[in-house]
Amino acid sequence: MTRARAVACSNIALAKYWGKASVAENLPATPSLSLTLAGLRTITEVEVDPSLSCDHAELDGAVLTGRPLERVAAMLDRLRARAGVSTSARVVSRNHFPTAAGLASSASGFAALALAGARAFGLDLPLETLSDIARASSASAARSLFGGFVALPAGGRCAERVASGEHFPLSMVVTLTAKGAKAIGSTQGMQHTAATSPYYAPWVSHSPKLFDEVRRGVLERDFERLGVAMEQSALMMHASMLAASPAVIYLTPTTLAVMAAVRELRAAGTPAFYTMDAGPHVKVLTLPEHAARVAACVEAVPGVERTVVTGSGPDAALTDEDPRSGE
Ligand code: PMV
Repeated sequence: MTRARAVACSNIALAKYWGKASVAENLPATPSLSLTLAGLRTITEVEVDPSLSCDHAELDGAVLTGRPLERVAAMLDRLRARAGVSTSARVVSRNHFPTAAGLASSASGFAALALAGARAFGLDLPLETLSDIARASSASAARSLFGGFVALPAGGRCAERVASGEHFPLSMVVTLTAKGAKAIGSTQGMQHTAATSPYYAPWVSHSPKLFDEVRRGVLERDFERLGVAMEQSALMMHASMLAASPAVIYLTPTTLAVMAAVRELRAAGTPAFYTMDAGPHVKVLTLPEHAARVAACVEAVPGVERTVVTGSGPDAALTDEDPRSGE
């Protein structure tokens, strides 16, 4: 086969990965556990083309150059090495994400690229191996090969499923607080935190406890246990960044206002907990029957642009969908 298309969903970490055990191999220093989300999908096509002299890549209609193109080519190189071929490829990818975006798309992007690229180069690899290949590009992408609740151990090479989405149906109210790309990339932010923050070592040493609490909360369908540990994981990760020199600050006044609104909702009896990644957006985890109320509440916070309410998504898979067709 010379052409393949794949779809992968993004994921949000409930227990966070922040810091690398090995920069050269891109191995995580902390164990993470995520929920794959149906509402945030990437579709990627890879076509092997002997007439090309180098790899070409297009994301959302724009041709990639520089570092983003290098990252795509580096993954294709790993796939070519496995397949024993040297042919260049054309990559076309589309994020079916909310338009205000600024949401991390590397997770779904590299997961979809790993699967489509492997197939296009004639490789039939299990999800575990594809997860390892995706992890080398972006550790969070390792988790996007699997649907439902997914773990990536500290130092781990590939992610593993913890439970299906049906095991514990949850809703994520993705709350978009600002337009625009993030100020500082996650790799740079992590390395700067590791090098300069006195809170980095305590974060890394405490993270297995939070991971374990999140995992138990998922397995035992204990929403309170899961939510409390999830918030602490996000806040402790951000605390390690805030203590870096200079500080890495992703949280904005709107982020803090949404967090306050969620705490108020909770005090009034609605089960809801927040988490934030390397950006200003807030993802609010709740039970499906409370999702509409939570969305209405956070949408009323000044500075919030919109919400996307979504539940758990499936494994990455081959697809017929054309990434050239729009939303
Ligand atoms: O995989 P990266 O380099 O995009 O890093 C992801 C880091 C966080 O999103 C902040 C946390 C996580 O576990 O996804």
